[in-house]
Amino acid sequence: MLEVKKAVIPVAGFGTRFLPATKATPKEMMPIVDKPIIQYIVEEAVSAGIETIIFVTGRHKRAIEDHFDYAPDLEYALEKSGKEELLKIIREISDMANFVYIRQKEQLGLGHAILTAERVVGNEPFAVLLGDELIINPVNPGIGQLIEIYKKFGKSVIGTTEVPKEEVYKYGIIDGAKIEDGVRLVNYLVEKPEPHEAPSTSAIIGRYVLTPSIFDALKRTPFGKGGELQLTDALMMLRKEEAIYAKDIEGRRFDTGNKYGYLEAIVNFALTREDTKDYMKQLITNLVKEIESQSEV
Ligand code: UTP
Repeated sequence: MLEVKKAVIPVAGFGTRFLPATKATPKEMMPIVDKPIIQYIVEEAVSAGIETIIFVTGRHKRAIEDHFDYAPDLEYALEKSGKEELLKIIREISDMANFVYIRQKEQLGLGHAILTAERVVGNEPFAVLLGDELIINPVNPGIGQLIEIYKKFGKSVIGTTEVPKEEVYKYGIIDGAKIEDGVRLVNYLVEKPEPHEAPSTSAIIGRYVLTPSIFDALKRTPFGKGGELQLTDALMMLRKEEAIYAKDIEGRRFDTGNKYGYLEAIVNFALTREDTKDYMKQLITNLVKEIESQSEV
């Protein structure tokens, strides 16, 4: 069985939920404290053994390329001013993996973005990590949990989590038969169903390991919800031809593609990081006191 060594990270979307911030800046470059979201995602992939990162990009995404490239002028300035610690951090970013960039010329959906990467992926299994979902598990990275299941069955694996019924319309939803704790054999998938149409509350959360047969399925899939080529629809097509598994991912998840999830991530990280936690706790305590005393007046 071929090993999973490549990851596709689609980042070509417009990020309309974050306008005007995303007019000229990719949402993936927005920082959680002092590190851009996309770096956390690349680190997750690398810690699960991924060696090549394939970004599917679009216009206005140059900042992502620059972030993972060498920055000789900056490195020189840091070296000259004796900022060794920062220099190390900056250098390590570009040495983490091989980075490949491919442009999705039209934003025709997540499925279309994956299809754009076909030639670079070739005929081997690959991981997919969405550029706007953070999954934090310091012991066992989210995508690594899917790779483990792939190694067991040799078939595609979708990362899932349970969501409240009233939120199913935001996700791809799967239905399947439990085969072991947290793992199901998928028998049905549907993209963003209304609550009454949803077969379950098991939602797809932006992590996949896919066999290369997904490319052929994508080519045969008609454009679906929102006029986009939907990966979920192509998986439904593939499901008729080969087994697909779903694995509940263990870890804390932040949907940083929307404001609330983004704020939650920042506050959470600031409250748990050694260098910021005391400051953040004090800040929140003081702010709450201030607001309460104002409302008493
Ligand atoms: P989203 O549905 O979150 O779309 O895409 P978006 O444009 O990024 O954000 P909003 O909804 O307008 O605020 C899910 C993921 O798929 C990528 C996005 O970059 C994001 O990581 N994507 C989506 C593409 O790469 N190409 C597409 O055509 C569509």
